[in-house]
Amino acid sequence: MRQATSDLTPGYDAELRRHNQALRRACGLQVHDHVLDIGCGAGQTTREAARTVQAGSALGVDVSAPAIERAREFARAEGLRNVTFEHADAQVHRFPGEHFDLAISRFGTMFFDDAVAAFANIRRALRPAGRLVMMVWQSHERNEWDVAIHQSLAGLEGPVAADSVGPDPFSLADPQTVKQILGDAGFADVAFTDVREPVYYGPDVAAALEWVRGFTCTSEVLKRLDPAAAAHAIGRLSETLSAHLSDDGVWFDSRAWIVTARRH
Ligand SMILES: C[S@@+](CC[C@H](N)C(=O)[O-])C[C@H]1O[C@@H](n2cnc3c(N)ncnc32)[C@H](O)[C@@H]1O
Repeated sequence: MRQATSDLTPGYDAELRRHNQALRRACGLQVHDHVLDIGCGAGQTTREAARTVQAGSALGVDVSAPAIERAREFARAEGLRNVTFEHADAQVHRFPGEHFDLAISRFGTMFFDDAVAAFANIRRALRPAGRLVMMVWQSHERNEWDVAIHQSLAGLEGPVAADSVGPDPFSLADPQTVKQILGDAGFADVAFTDVREPVYYGPDVAAALEWVRGFTCTSEVLKRLDPAAAAHAIGRLSETLSAHLSDDGVWFDSRAWIVTARRH
């Protein structure tokens, strides 16, 4: 195995480095496990799983073709032989039936058009004793990063200016809703672990601003504002990031769930 790609990995892996440790512990991977990583993005969690399940395998799937390309490049660079990536929609993709011991996800399961259909599809890919371990955001109000970004963008223009469009990263925030969805999809023993770890946005305000401007919620709002209003919003965002700068970079509090369930 060649050198790790930590110096090449994208900002999202750095942002979530504390969360990642909690997720790894919760997965409890065994050396023979076959792992499916849902919405794997650039594949850090898939590659880490592959390194643990040395006598098993890891498959990462994502609807983003560029993300899958990057995931493959990272895996090649690390010389991993038991990991594969597929460009696929996890809601409808025909996975091999009853094949995987574990389906994992780091914030990749909140964006399905039909969550029950998607989790039922994932369930069919799990062996009878298979488990699901996924990390999802708790509500907007509990996530300082989202509240702060929205307040900065809204400013004098008011909250409507900062209303989110597109997929909802908080769609699995409510435990009752998640229990209902997973129950309907054929999962049992649904449990929630409260994860309170901060997110990291960069070593300084300039880096953090560049990172946050890349968020869909930020870029969509900035696109809707006229140039002067957008400049004001960026100024406010910069002030907010400055207020969260400490000796080791820009950090915001966050709350996530690790949701675990087993195939019924
Ligand atoms: C917030 S990112 C997380 C990426 C990755 N899990 C990580 O932690 O680096 C969410 C990912 O879910 C993917 N995604 C969204 N809907 C999907 C679907 N129906 N099937 C597969 N991937 C999906 C997106 O393309 C995106 O890469």
